[in-house]
Amino acid sequence: MADLNGVPWPPDPIQTTRLLLRTPVAADRDGVIELLCSPVATRYLAGPQSRTDVERTMPSTPSGRVGVFTVEANGRFVGTVSFDRRDASRPGHVRTGGLEVEVSYAIVPDEWGHGYAAEAVTAALDWVEGALPGEPVVLCTQTANLASMRVAERVGFVEVGRFEEFDATQWLGVHRPERT
Ligand SMILES: CC(C)(COP(=O)(O)OP(=O)(O)OC[C@H]1O[C@@H](n2cnc3c(N)ncnc32)[C@H](O)[C@@H]1OP(=O)(O)O)[C@@H](O)C(=O)NCCC(=O)NCCS
Repeated sequence: MADLNGVPWPPDPIQTTRLLLRTPVAADRDGVIELLCSPVATRYLAGPQSRTDVERTMPSTPSGRVGVFTVEANGRFVGTVSFDRRDASRPGHVRTGGLEVEVSYAIVPDEWGHGYAAEAVTAALDWVEGALPGEPVVLCTQTANLASMRVAERVGFVEVGRFEEFDATQWLGVHRPERT
């Protein structure tokens, strides 16, 4: 997956009503491992990774690449919001040549249902609009992932297609912020 090299990084931390979005630090490592190894959190993604493997391979500061935000609530790690570029070789695009900015998000299961994902993704989309103005931002999520579909709708994604990947139907949305 191509990254977002070229955007100003690291960004200033982003404060929302309840959340702080910031670049990852070493203290986030346990939370990131929890997300990657949780069968619940990875149900509509690639499935859980082996904790032994992840513990062995993850650097002391996780996810240090451009485009990855840690989401913090009340001083605790609650999830991540990430931006990548969507490889042209994969299905699901809104422009010829692909490499659209693609957002993904995950909240630790104990923190689901508080509106954290919608609040964090909204703030992250504001940031990316400033960092890469005018670029379409896409989101792909399994249609079976009803919570994610709801988050997509709430933060302003509109459906532009569906396709099959990883033996599942995927929803392709593009973000079109309202302009006045
Ligand atoms: C998707 C995910 C990020 C949502 O996190 P969250 O903080 O609980 O999300 P929010 O509270 O902001 O919003 C969830 C919405 O889905 C709704 N929802 C939750 N479960 C639902 C279900 N089974 N059916 C329908 N709607 C559901 C909630 O009611 C809420 O909608 P509302 O605000 O209108 O009430 C979280 O479930 C997650 O981390 N999943 C694993 C990772 C993942 O699948 N990411 C998506 C791929 S990018």
